Amino acid sequence: MVDLQFKPVTNELQRLCKAVKLLEGGLAVPFDVNFAGQTCRAFAIRYEGMVQAYLNRCTHVAMELDWQPNQIFDDSGQWLLCASHGAAYRPETGQCVGGPCQGSLVKIKVSERDGVVYWHSADNLKPVPF
Ligand code: FES
Repeated sequence: MVDLQFKPVTNELQRLCKAVKLLEGGLAVPFDVNFAGQTCRAFAIRYEGMVQAYLNRCTHVAMELDWQPNQIFDDSGQWLLCASHGAAYRPETGQCVGGPCQGSLVKIKVSERDGVVYWHSADNLKPVPF
C-alpha cells in the first residue's frame, strides 16, 4: 500500500539568511542541519560574488573550523582555514589545498533569490526538527 502522506524533503528550499549578511570574504553565517541523522553546524560564505555553504566539519578531524565565531576566511579572504591545525580549503569548492586535510568539505547546495539566501535539503541533509 502506498503512503500518500509521505512527502520527500529532497531539494526543498530552507531559508538561511538575508543576502546582505554575507559579505565578500567576510564572516560566515552559521546554521544547523541534520546530516545523515546527526545535528551538525554548517556555514555559508560569499566568495567572488557567489554564496557557498559547507558543513562546519574539517576533513582532518571532525572539528569545527572556526576558533573565533564565524571567522573561517584567512586574513586575505582567499582561503578557508581550520583553526585547529591549519588546513586550508578553496572557498568556491571546499577542496583541501594545504595542511593535514584530505578531500573536500561537505558542500551544501545554496541559492539566492530576491535578497534571500536558501540552502537546499537533500536525502542525507535535512532541517533540524524543532
Ligand atoms: S582539525 Fe582541521 S586541520 Fe586538524
